[in-house]
Amino acid sequence: MTQDIVILAAGKGSRMKSAFSKVLHKVGGIAMVRRVLTTASTLADSKLHLVVGHQGEQVEANCQDFSANIVWQNDPQGTGDALRRVAPFLQADGATLTLYGDVPLIRAYTLEKMTALSNANTLVLLTISLDNPTGYGRIVRNEQGKVTAIVEQKDALESQLAIKEVNTGILLAPNARLQGWLAALTNNNAQGEYYLTDVIAMAARDGVDIVTVNPENEAEVAGVNDRVQLAALERELQSQQAISLMQNGATLLDPSRIDVRGELVTGNDVIIDVNCVFEGKVVLGSGVEVGPNCYLKNCIVGDNTIIKSNTLIEDSLVGESCDIGPFARLRPGTQLANKAKIGNFVETKKAIIGEGSKVNHLSYIGDTEMGANVNVGAGTITCNYDGVNKHKTQVANNVFIGSNTSLVAPVQVAEGATIAAGSTITKQVGEKQLAFARARQTNKDNWPRPTKK
Ligand code: UD1
Ligand code: MG
Repeated sequence: MTQDIVILAAGKGSRMKSAFSKVLHKVGGIAMVRRVLTTASTLADSKLHLVVGHQGEQVEANCQDFSANIVWQNDPQGTGDALRRVAPFLQADGATLTLYGDVPLIRAYTLEKMTALSNANTLVLLTISLDNPTGYGRIVRNEQGKVTAIVEQKDALESQLAIKEVNTGILLAPNARLQGWLAALTNNNAQGEYYLTDVIAMAARDGVDIVTVNPENEAEVAGVNDRVQLAALERELQSQQAISLMQNGATLLDPSRIDVRGELVTGNDVIIDVNCVFEGKVVLGSGVEVGPNCYLKNCIVGDNTIIKSNTLIEDSLVGESCDIGPFARLRPGTQLANKAKIGNFVETKKAIIGEGSKVNHLSYIGDTEMGANVNVGAGTITCNYDGVNKHKTQVANNVFIGSNTSLVAPVQVAEGATIAAGSTITKQVGEKQLAFARARQTNKDNWPRPTKK
């Protein structure tokens, strides 16, 4: 059966006190509405509609890649009003699933449970029982236990306020019926809004089956209205992600001190120490160890590589059995072959470092192609920028570069060459040559030290 999925994101979100749309605030590094769109996209045979209004241009611009049908709801007048704007775009058959842009952790598994129960004469509601139901619409059932209505907090009778089963807002309704119910909505209620929830009583009256499904946990249906709730949901997601990393064979020295803002894929026996942040897509091979306080963004790290504390790696490819850090910074375009070593206070950028090569201390290696088994002495710098353009440094296999060398690019150092410490290299060094490029030392005998006048 085809399924329309409507994601409501037109609300004001005034409690966020933000220049940005509420649904663009991020949970786990991804905008809330993008999480919902991503989950919705995994459901089979569905068509996405995104209702935008307040700060709608921002939402539209940030969600273009989902190619959802954007429906404008300028002047939002309630959840029922939102659905009414989508009504002309709904397919004649099938059903419509309504999701909220500010309820980001809803899982496809739960939605699929709803879909499995859906048919032309059934409305499926996602409900949950809460110890404190304040603020939510209450699920009203008759003596047979059948759902007969949803009553909003502000319209509820004293006796209804005691009901603990609440409306999560997520519902799945058959299109052929929904059209009529939406057309019949009125705003005759405490908030003067068109309530989507009023369709429940209409469905009950029309003899449509109303069935309920429950989410596995409360976080799945938790909405974000302010930054306190945003932070709470962030913690919840981080803890869920930490659990799944551990279940997949990673050791987290403290599961409450890891932040994954995107996607982290780990092989077996990965060990991650405290306070590490992973952003974008990060892949860690088996046996990788990450020391405390590391930041890794969009990178792939090969098996058995050790990343020591306080290391930053961004948009880079790291081979197997490498040794990186502490305090290393691998900037975009760094590629380390297997067994390479990058030590403390070393910065690399657009640098290809060959197998077994070592840059152990206090260096900057940028716009460089380096072969295998090269040893780069402490304090070596590639002078890659002339103030206008960037130039390349090429270092062949088995080169030895003495400490405090400046390699003024463009420049090439051929296989097996040696560079004396303290050299400023401006010309090509040939195969197996030794290059000295520094002032000669002069020693004067019995030098009279200056005296104070
Ligand atoms: C709604 C439900 C309530 C449920 C609660 C769950 C109704 C009438 N009530 O109440 O039963 O317990 O959610 O959180 O549906 N939105 C629009 N356009 C509008 C109004 C809202 O797109 O005109 C969007 C908002 O951006 C938000 C969502 O719909 O994402 C829910 O709106 P909100 O105003 O928070 O509804 P509640 O009063 O919380
Ligand atoms: Mg709400």
